[in-house]
Formats: sequence, structure tokens, C-alpha cells
Amino acid sequence: MANRRQHPLSVFTETNYLHAFVSPNYVKHVFWAQWQTVPLPKPGHFAGQTVIVTGANVGLGLEAVRHFARLGAARVIVACRSVEKAEAAVADVRQSLTAEQAAAVKLEAWDMDLGSFASVAAFGKRAAKELDRLDAVVENAGVAAGTYCPLEGHESSITVNVLSTFYLAFLLLPLLRQTAAQHNVRPNISIVSSDAHFFARFDEQYKPSIFAALQDPASMTHDRYNVSKLLEILVVREMAKVLDDKKIGITVNTLNPGLCRTQLFRSLPFGVRHLVNGGLVLIGRTADMGARTLVSAAAAGPETHGEYLDTNEVWPVSTYVTSEAGAKAQGRVWTELLGILEGIHPGIIKNLE
Ligand SMILES: NC(=O)c1ccc[n+]([C@@H]2O[C@H](COP(=O)([O-])OP(=O)(O)OC[C@H]3O[C@@H](n4cnc5c(N)ncnc54)[C@H](OP(=O)(O)O)[C@@H]3O)[C@@H](O)[C@H]2O)c1
Repeated sequence: MANRRQHPLSVFTETNYLHAFVSPNYVKHVFWAQWQTVPLPKPGHFAGQTVIVTGANVGLGLEAVRHFARLGAARVIVACRSVEKAEAAVADVRQSLTAEQAAAVKLEAWDMDLGSFASVAAFGKRAAKELDRLDAVVENAGVAAGTYCPLEGHESSITVNVLSTFYLAFLLLPLLRQTAAQHNVRPNISIVSSDAHFFARFDEQYKPSIFAALQDPASMTHDRYNVSKLLEILVVREMAKVLDDKKIGITVNTLNPGLCRTQLFRSLPFGVRHLVNGGLVLIGRTADMGARTLVSAAAAGPETHGEYLDTNEVWPVSTYVTSEAGAKAQGRVWTELLGILEGIHPGIIKNLE
């Protein structure tokens, strides 16, 4: 993981937006990565470990649960929007395991709606009460919303992909820290981001408040999903620095699962949806193959702390992220996020002290 590759999209130094689509390098990269067989961690890697996977009823989350179970995890919390969906996912995974695998893993159906801060808070409280250890959290749940839909006062992709995602990470920090201390391990928080961040125009960075600008229905464009995935990367990078400053031994990383044949694009406008799904038939990874990148990020070591992974390797983020403007935005996004989380849950940022 230590070797950094030159990302094909890095050739665009100003805005890598539209150019990336026509870059021969990008096309080459996509075809190269999409056809790779993504390796899995060694059998037994997760033996004795407890793992949480969010958005686990379909797509990458469901297949990640199946991998964790086959790789020897002791306990997997299958977190879905409703308990019925979680129970169906548990049954689906269980019937695909050998008798030996099924006997070795405890699969638990838990509900959490990332569109509701109260639901995320309840999940965090339950985890603190019922889990005696937590080794890895895969924050996979996400939406690609086609239209503006407010959830908890913010646009739905910002609420689900960013605010609730990091609210959950903050809620789970005490349990992760306790696990690190008691078992002499370094737990992982892995946030599923995307190559879509390369295409973010992110006009909201020019506004006095980034999150306030994103609340404005008039600001809803096709850029929103890209921006939500960019924000995830900015927050992970800043969070990693803060964890290091506080000498907290938890790895937080982020990853691109590649283009995968899942239901992610279900809410996009009819034409775009069919265009994307047509492309996925040609070059999309199966959900099983894409999910391997989630499982590998959860197994990865401290060399991935604050980093972005693509096909299990530390991979360059967009040139915007590492630019002066990106660094400035990173600090602002972090400060604004902490303010919002404190508004939702006074005292929550003390979990980072
Ligand atoms: N597929 C790709 O090509 C691709 C590429 C790059 C990144 N990603 C990222 O991969 C992750 C997984 O996506 P996927 O491709 O597996 O898509 P998917 O099949 O649509 O799965 C998304 C999951 O997120 C859950 N979710 C959405 N809103 C939620 C909410 N409010 N509360 C709880 N759960 C919620 C969904 O639950 P419901 O079924 O209840 O809605 C579902 O389980 C996402 O973060 C996505 O951005 C995917």
C-alpha cells in the first residue's frame, strides 16, 4: 500500500471536471481497474473481530457483510434503514455460508436511518451498550439523489453521505478507543467515497458558509453527489490529522469501490440513469468485486490513515484536494461540520479529546 501511483486524473491541474471524461489516461485507468480481480484479506483475517457495515441490505454493503462472514469475523452488525431489511440481509448472507462459517459468525440485524439524526444517535447508544468491542466500521450507506429532498434541514445527500456518516463515526469513537486500549489493536473507520469527487465543481466553496449554501434548494445540481463524496474525503483527511494530534490509535481511511453494478443510480433522472446503467453493464464490477475494496480498507494498516484507496492501493486524490484552495476548504468544512454536530449532539466533539 505504501507506493503511491500517479492517478491518471492528476494530469489536470486546474479543474479536472469535464476534461477527465475525454482523457485517454482516465479511460485507460477505468478499464484497467475495472477488470482487475480485487484481492481479499487472508482467510481468518477478521477472526475474533466485531465489524459494523452500514447500508448492508443491497449492493456493496450486503456483499461486504458476506465477505466479512466468510473471512472469520466473530460478529457483524448489519445496519440497514429498517430492521426488516436488515433481517432479510442476514438471512441472505446466512444461506450462502458453509455450516462452519455460519456457526463461527454472529450476524445481527440492527436498524439505522441516516436520514434521521435521532436514529443515528439511537444506533450509537445501542452500540455503546451492547458491543464489547468494535474493530472496524465500514460507512458504506449512501445516496445519489437526483432532486432536492430535505432531511433534518439539509439536502438528503449531505445529510446521509456526510452529516450522519460522520455523526456515527463520532458516536463510535469511545468504543473504538476502548477496543484499541483493551485489545492492543488499531481499529479502522472506512468511509466509502468515490472517484466522483474528481468531477466536483464545488461552487459552494466560494460562499460564506459551505453547508448553508448546500441547504439552498436552488443550489441543487447534478454536482451534488460529487460534492458529497469530495466532502467525505476532506473530512477524512482532517479527522486523520486530529486523531494523530490527540495520539488516538484509530485508522480512518476512505476509498473508491470503482464503478459497480448496484442500485445506487436508482434516483437519477430517467435518461442519466439508463445511460449510467448501460455503461455499468459494459464495464461495471459486480457488487461482490466492488465490496472487496470495502473489506480491504477495513483490514488496512496505518499507512492508509487519512488516505484514499482505489483497488486496495493508496491512490492520489484529485489535484483540487491537495491544492491551496482544497486545503482551505478542508479546514472550513471540518470547522463547520463540528459546529453542526455539536448542534445535533452537544458535547459530541469531546469524543475526539
Ligand atoms: N455503485 C457504484 O458504482 C459506486 C461507485 C463509487 C462509490 N459508491 C458508493 O458505494 C456506497 C454503496 O453504494 P451501492 O453502490 O452499494 O448503492 P446501493 O445499492 O444503492 O446501496 C446503498 C445503500 O445505502 C443505503 N442507504 C441509503 N440511504 C440510507 C439511509 N437514509 N439510511 C440508511 N441507509 C441508507 C441503502 O439502503 P436502502 O436500500 O434502504 O435505500 C443501501 O443499503 C455508496 O456510498 C456509494 O456512494 C458506489
